Amino acid sequence: MPDYSPGLAGVPAAKSKISYLDGQKGILEYRGFRIELLAEKSNFIETAYLLLFGRLPAAAELRRFSADLCSHRRIKYRITDLMKCLPEHGHPMDALQAAVAALGMFYPAKNVRDPEIQSNSSVRLIAKLPTIVAAHARMRHGDDPIPPRDDLGHSANFLYMLTGQAPDPLMAEVLDVALTLHAEHTMNASTFSGLVTASTLADAYTVVSSAIGTLSGPLHGGANEQVIDMLLEIGSKANVRPYLEKKLADGEKIMGFGHREYKVKDPRSSILQKLMPRMFEQYGRSPLYETAQEVERVGVALLGSKGIHPNVDFFSGIVYEKMGIDKDLFTPVFALARVVGWLAHWIEQLKDNHIFRPTEIYEGEHERQYLPIDQRP
Ligand code: ACO
Repeated sequence: MPDYSPGLAGVPAAKSKISYLDGQKGILEYRGFRIELLAEKSNFIETAYLLLFGRLPAAAELRRFSADLCSHRRIKYRITDLMKCLPEHGHPMDALQAAVAALGMFYPAKNVRDPEIQSNSSVRLIAKLPTIVAAHARMRHGDDPIPPRDDLGHSANFLYMLTGQAPDPLMAEVLDVALTLHAEHTMNASTFSGLVTASTLADAYTVVSSAIGTLSGPLHGGANEQVIDMLLEIGSKANVRPYLEKKLADGEKIMGFGHREYKVKDPRSSILQKLMPRMFEQYGRSPLYETAQEVERVGVALLGSKGIHPNVDFFSGIVYEKMGIDKDLFTPVFALARVVGWLAHWIEQLKDNHIFRPTEIYEGEHERQYLPIDQRP
């Protein structure tokens, strides 16, 4: 029996060719391409193609893929109606999970080994997740959903469906980079839960709804929301040092700092940070970012020697906040990027599938006596 590793820490759960991470050097690659390169030269849709199919598309392939995605953005009225029936104070991640699970009933895709089913299911899910998130976000405030606009790119269209305004190009570009950065991240909790579901040969909708459920927990997808709360609580640059010192003295963590894998600054946070001055120049300064810069400076001085640095969530919430995205939509935005990674792992898993069936170390009792109810203490 191999050694027990709580949380399966350090136990490989799959062999994969999708992404690679070196946490000591701060390297992240998708299909062998450095994340910095993709953030600068590619875009979310091309990166999605790369992650799903293992190579960059030729021009005609990218045109077809983009057109397919565009033509599948709409969601059925019955999915909208289903979301209307959900409590308006419920968390958008729960609504997303319910809607994605329901999608699978409209698009039967049980023959999961069929490459056409794999491709169609992937396109539908990548295309429809933004529409679901935006529709629910509007309906919970009593507004009508806004249908997608075919003339807008993936990220611009999402912001349009959310606000009713076509965003200006910089806003759409920054969101597109953020989605690219969140599209995949080796074996993490949500990807693993998607793989466990995939290994039973469940369909893509079920796989993705499992992964969404796992992403919804605060230890996985929710840290960027908490970063905003922390920055608001700190209030000003002058309060940063006393606030951080008290947190650490009380044994609490600094939100947006630290990562299980990265022992240097998360490369994704550096990429986002480089885009931020352009945003603020165009849309006005962000007091939150000014506080965040000081939190980074003091936080690294206090924790850097332990390998604790800002992670991607430290800056992503500030970016989304500047775009006018509600705080509780930050994790759904993460999901509409990470759906690509989940699907890439789903397709890879099916090439050499083994149902996940780990073992456990039983620590309970044996051979107990069954006492009739009137004789039990
Ligand atoms: N602030 C202060 N101390 C920290 C932090 C932090 N953010 N992160 C880790 N530490 C300290 C711990 O207190 C612990 O110290 P000790 O050895 O003196 O007891 C040590 O570093 C190891 O901490 P673990 O939690 O065991 O490290 P792990 O690698 O499991 O944690 C994690 C990674 C969960 C991300 C952690 O750093 C954390 O909770 N950070 C804050 C939440 C956060 O930002 N999450 C987003 C992660 S990125 C993402 O999911 C996209």
